[in-house]
Amino acid sequence: MNKKHKEILENIRNEFPILDQKINGEDLVYLDNAASTQKPKSVINAIKDYYENDHSNVHRGVHTLSVRATEAYENARSKVADFLNSPNKHQIIFTKGTTDSVNLIASSVTNLIQENDEILISSMEHHSNIVPWQELCKRTGAVLKVIPINENGELLIDEYEGMISDKTKLVSVVHLSNTLGTINPIEDIIRIAKSYNVITMIDGAQAAGHFPIDVQELDCDFYLFSGHKIFGPTGIGVLYGKEEILNKIDPYQFGGEMILKVTFEETTYNDLPHKFEAGTPNIAGAVGIGASIDFINNLDRDLCHQYEMELHDYALERLEKIEGINIIGKSANKSAIISFVIEGLHPHDIGTIINQKGIAVRTGHHCTMPLMDFYGIPGTVRASFSIYNNHAEVDKLIDAIKLAIKMLK
Ligand code: ALA
Repeated sequence: MNKKHKEILENIRNEFPILDQKINGEDLVYLDNAASTQKPKSVINAIKDYYENDHSNVHRGVHTLSVRATEAYENARSKVADFLNSPNKHQIIFTKGTTDSVNLIASSVTNLIQENDEILISSMEHHSNIVPWQELCKRTGAVLKVIPINENGELLIDEYEGMISDKTKLVSVVHLSNTLGTINPIEDIIRIAKSYNVITMIDGAQAAGHFPIDVQELDCDFYLFSGHKIFGPTGIGVLYGKEEILNKIDPYQFGGEMILKVTFEETTYNDLPHKFEAGTPNIAGAVGIGASIDFINNLDRDLCHQYEMELHDYALERLEKIEGINIIGKSANKSAIISFVIEGLHPHDIGTIINQKGIAVRTGHHCTMPLMDFYGIPGTVRASFSIYNNHAEVDKLIDAIKLAIKMLK
């Protein structure tokens, strides 16, 4: 990393006001970015500006504020469409988040699923990409099957190829594992699924903030992510879908906005994307996600990715020297997330002690209990890096872990 690049990255950190504070008397070291990223001033200001100047309800009024709010909301949809290289903006549905997007699909595809059909997910899925499918299976009599992984936390693609068949109706796989940091070969997963005409859904909650996504190149049927993991606000998420399938599946929620005509006898549904957006949407959230996309578009994404991986490699090298540590997730293709356990110590105890040093990491099962069962552990400590972190923070993390070990052993 040269001097100019270092300067760019230092300036990025100054965009995030929350980072400039003390926790327990120590400088905050925020390493819980896989749970939620912090927000740059531009996102905070866009939301504030929207509420101070333009807020009203959308798609309903002829008055100026309603027109402005509608423009702000639809402009955000266009930004998301460009961000994912969606062919049309009406293929972008705003939801509450990735969990809401999965629930929407798992509910809306019910009319396409029959008894004994098979749904495939992987062993490293977040609960939000397990439970909605279990519920779909209960409703329809379909069968949920799970693609296995190896000890490194890599999907077994040969096994996947052996599992997929004419019975398979849908494959839903995470792009980047929140627990292991594994980047899955979704191009192969989608290609194989397509050869059986299987619907493909990619959970991009962790991926979308870290590298560019091109849904046309991927050729998946659905791609999902959340605003708050790409420097945007909470409570707003995205569901991209292919037009053909979005037109084929049923709405998930019913009410205002998603209708064309209502009588007491019957209702006809609105066109895309409104068919899937019942009720007043999260307009300020959409404005916020639009601003977070502007923020990302102004970054050198290759440089950011390279920097995050540099922090990851540096942290990993230092962590591996700690006695009794076991790194959980050693995929050859991974992102800047490190999960680990330390022999004889509970992850929560480590997390609690290092918080005393101002360090924020996540501890627990990370909403991936079946994955914890696979490794035979109750949980991990997880450090996840973003563009505003630095090498000095990694050093503080290592010192704090060493202190925790000393105190707990
Ligand atoms: N899914 C989020 C995480 O991994 C909450 O922490």
